[in-house]
Amino acid sequence: MNSPLAQELVLPCGQSINNRLGKSAMTEGLADSLDRPTPAHNQLYNTWSHGGTGLHITGNVMVDRRYLERAGNVVLEDDSALEQFKQWAQAGTEAGNHLWMQISHPGRQCPSLVNKQPLSPSEVHLKMLGSFSKPRALTQVEIAEIIQRYATTAALAKEAGFTGVQVHCAHGYLISQFLSPKTNQRSDQWGGSLENRARFARKVVQAVRKAVGPDFPVAVKLNSADFQKGGFSLEDCVQVAAWLAQDSIDLLEISGGTYEQLSLMGVEATEVRESTRKREAYFLEYAAAIKASAKVPLMITGGFRSRDVMEQAISSGEIDMVGLARPLCTQPNISQQLLEQSVDRIDDFEHNLTLGNGWLGNNSSISLIKAINNVGAVSFYYQQIMRLSKNKPVDTSLKVLPCFAKHMINDTKLNLQRKKAQNKSLFSTN
Ligand SMILES: Cc1cc2nc3c(=O)[nH]c(=O)nc-3n(C[C@H](O)[C@H](O)[C@H](O)COP(=O)(O)O)c2cc1C
Repeated sequence: MNSPLAQELVLPCGQSINNRLGKSAMTEGLADSLDRPTPAHNQLYNTWSHGGTGLHITGNVMVDRRYLERAGNVVLEDDSALEQFKQWAQAGTEAGNHLWMQISHPGRQCPSLVNKQPLSPSEVHLKMLGSFSKPRALTQVEIAEIIQRYATTAALAKEAGFTGVQVHCAHGYLISQFLSPKTNQRSDQWGGSLENRARFARKVVQAVRKAVGPDFPVAVKLNSADFQKGGFSLEDCVQVAAWLAQDSIDLLEISGGTYEQLSLMGVEATEVRESTRKREAYFLEYAAAIKASAKVPLMITGGFRSRDVMEQAISSGEIDMVGLARPLCTQPNISQQLLEQSVDRIDDFEHNLTLGNGWLGNNSSISLIKAINNVGAVSFYYQQIMRLSKNKPVDTSLKVLPCFAKHMINDTKLNLQRKKAQNKSLFSTN
């Protein structure tokens, strides 16, 4: 194959990825009520494994079952379900691709339905349609304990057969909350200066590296910026990326935004230049600055849709890997076609994913409508993930409102089932 996307990438740890296409993390919501992987994960990742993508990164796997990003998250905090994880790793690597586990803690982005007392560096409440409770500030002892949890999860992922791990430091989750001065208002060694705000990320990465050894891939997903006034900035990102490279990571994935500012999906990216948004690849313009400071392979994710933009970004050396997420929900074997150069552009559905196909539109200033639009658009992809996990064909005719309704019903059901099962298992172990 002649495409620059088809080149192998050798990582600093010595492992190699057989092409330059990476599936970025997408939360699956497919765990059973005891937060374990299921045959649905195996089916989904087996389909993706055979789609040509060189690197697959799982949806965020939680380090602590008390704090989830949503019900249906997988949790890996001990070896009680290692057999299920082994089956998932095996199914997801069948075609010889890499499968890395994304490891995460939601911090304040833990819905009230899961836990009414979330944790965060400081007590800064995420106010979104009443979905999240005010967090409690972590104690120093708890911070040390959570760092150890990331390391435990990474070691277990390796034992189960995942071929690498990615620490989720982006999108407003716990590590990202430490990095941002908006959500980190601490005055101890974990807050204040950038060096202090980055301490948690670095300690986690160092603990993970120690737990998995020098020849196992360790990646980080980091925001280029939060795109919020007073939040984590591009200058912060450039410095943190350099520190993380010193901490011997193998791949740095760059994204941007948080729940409050969905730049990661290409919406509301107020500080992203219009030309860039039109041109796709929302964060590509930051690659040069990050690469100049952090000597580590770089993957950029968000908005890549045309083959020539991807090929050019790789052949120019601007980036080392192209990250793709939503396209793999609607075209699970799109990577194969890109590698063979049999497709020029990935079909995208994002512009159709607004209520009534635009009559209230994505630019609506009504925040409820905006929230339904955003959740509905993501739910369209959740529905495709569910279909693939049942070996059903994708259905791109689905509309936002029914997807939103289905997701809300499913989420409530999952939360109830999970509470019931976990109460039962608590009582049966006492
Ligand atoms: C359904 C869905 C679930 C996602 N879940 C995660 C996740 O678990 N972890 C993460 O880092 N990003 C997550 N993302 C963000 C994607 O990894 C990616 O950054 C974003 O979709 C932009 O890339 P794209 O334009 O190729 O879709 C998710 C995106 C979607 C659509």
